[in-house]
This record gives sequence, C-alpha cells and structure tokens, in this order.
Amino acid sequence: MASGGLTTSLGSSLELRSPLIAASGTVGSVWEWVEVADPEPYGAAVAKSVAPEPWKGRPPPRLAPLPSGMLNGIGIQNPGIDAWVEEVGRKISRLGVPVWGSAVAHDAQGFARVAEGLCSAGVAAIEINLSCPNLEDGQMFSFDPARSAQVVGAVASVATVAVGAKLSPNTPDIVAAARACRDAGADFVVLTNTALGFGVSPATRRPLLSGGVGGYSGPGLKPISMRCVYEVSTALPDLPVVACGGVVSGSDVIEYLLAGASAVAAGTVHFAEPKAGRRIMGEVDTLLSSQGISSVRDLIGQVAGW
Ligand SMILES: Cc1cc2nc3c(=O)[nH]c(=O)nc-3n(C[C@H](O)[C@H](O)[C@H](O)COP(=O)(O)O)c2cc1C
Repeated sequence: MASGGLTTSLGSSLELRSPLIAASGTVGSVWEWVEVADPEPYGAAVAKSVAPEPWKGRPPPRLAPLPSGMLNGIGIQNPGIDAWVEEVGRKISRLGVPVWGSAVAHDAQGFARVAEGLCSAGVAAIEINLSCPNLEDGQMFSFDPARSAQVVGAVASVATVAVGAKLSPNTPDIVAAARACRDAGADFVVLTNTALGFGVSPATRRPLLSGGVGGYSGPGLKPISMRCVYEVSTALPDLPVVACGGVVSGSDVIEYLLAGASAVAAGTVHFAEPKAGRRIMGEVDTLLSSQGISSVRDLIGQVAGW
C-alpha cells in the first residue's frame, strides 16, 4: 500500500503517518527503544509518564509475566520533568518518530507544570495519564469526570500541542469521563490504560507484585478496551479515539479501527518483540490489500450492524 493510505488524523491539528502508536511505559523515553527497534512503521511513540518531581516507584517485584500478558505495579518511577526535559529534549528531533509526552501528577497544577515542560522539550502531543492504578490512595482521576475535567482544563490552558486524556477501563462511566475531558479541552482520548489486576504465587502465597494490586495488560485486555472504544466513539463521534489494549497483530489494529478508533497503540507486545511494529503494519497492509481497501481512514467506525 502507498504510505498515503496509512495516514490518519486525531482531529484537525494532529496528523499521523501511520495509525500505529507505541504505548507509554513500554518504549522507555523512546530514545532507548529507538536504539534497538525500528520506529519507521509508527505514527508516534509515547514516552513513559513523567511527574513534576522524581518518583522512585514501588519496590520489586513490580513486573509479573502471565500466560497471556503481564501484571505491572511500577508506580511510575521517573526522574521528574526537569531532568526529563534535559535528557530527552536534546534528542527528541533526531529519533525518526514523533514523540508524545505523558504527564502524571497528584493534582491539576502538577499536571500543568509537566505539560509546560513537555512542550518546551518539543513533544508532538501530550497524553494526560488519568488512569495510573498505582497511586497511593488507589484512586484514579479517570473515575471522576469532574476531577478529570479539572486536570484536562489545566493542561489544555498551557499546552501548545494537542492533548489526549488516557482513561482506565475500570472507569465506572467511560462515556461520561470522555465527555468531561472533551468539554474541558481534550483533543482526543486514549482508551485504555491497564485494567486493575491481582495475582498470587501458590509457592510463597505472596502477591505477585509488592504493591498487591497492579495493572493487567496484554491480549486479555482487548475486548475490554474494545468495549470502551466502541461505546465512546458511538456516543461522542466528534471525539477522536486512540485505542490501546492487547494489540499484537494487524487484525487487532483493524478491529479497533472498525470499532471507532482513529489510531491504535500497542504496548506489552514490545517487551517480547521490540520491532513488532514492522510485522504488525505488514499484516495491516496485507489485510487491507486482500479487501481492496486503499486507506485506513475508510475503516474507522465502520463496524456493521446485524
Ligand atoms: C510495564 C508497563 C508500564 C506502563 N507504564 C505506563 C505509563 O507510564 N503511562 C501510561 O499512560 N501507561 C503505561 N502503561 C500502560 C500502557 O501504555 C498501555 O495502556 C497498556 O499496557 C495496555 O496496552 P497493551 O495491552 O498493548 O500493553 C504501562 C504498561 C506496562 C505493561
């Protein structure tokens, strides 16, 4: 397929050369991943979430492989926005892929401070991580539309690039949360982050993660995130959606586009296969060619009725 057939957009301000995005937290701060991977098939790569101050994260164990996917409870270890800008800002224009920043904080002012730093570093867009399952009080901004809106409004008021709100699949009313984010100034939503999960070792009887409950990612997440994408894109057709959850193949990408996503992020697959993007987009190309489809845009929201 000609590369023009792979372009997509998130609203009027954000054009992507490919619908495939590398998900936050699975490609480091992007520059490390680019050294071992192949960024060309991706429309963007999202750096790990960064906070106003350094966070040391949780003690080990904080990653647990599962038969299908993984549990993580990293607690968003990060160097803080000032060190991040210093480290990543110098490299960002030479990575061969547009880099998105991801902001996390305990309050709206903190999110805004991170967003200012990310913009100064030259990110192409910002994800607002409203859905980290590992914060101290166990609450996520995404559970509460009003708190979500407050954060999105604070970020949108300082950001010079498009902003997207990343929501949890455990959000009680995902449409209400997405609507609140849109009304507060989000240009798109990312559906979804990891789902709350828990595991225990039968040998030690200890939880698999030091923090107990963590985030589940991988193929089992796909139908859950797919439901979020479908419901939000149906209820709010003017709000672009980036799908995320369990993508391992070209068919997964196409299914998410049909469900209403304008772009699709892959995360956990990169741990086993850092160069997964080349294979996944090759599979997309083959599937589109076999159906005589010339543009991925022709698939967005085209799920048929019974
Ligand atoms: C080890 C790990 C770390 C993650 N860190 C972040 C993060 O810092 N910020 C964020 O928004 N999402 C983070 N995520 C969530 C992913 O971006 C993605 O939303 C989730 O894993 C679902 O996609 P997947 O099933 O393709 O992995 C992380 C996921 C994993 C597995």
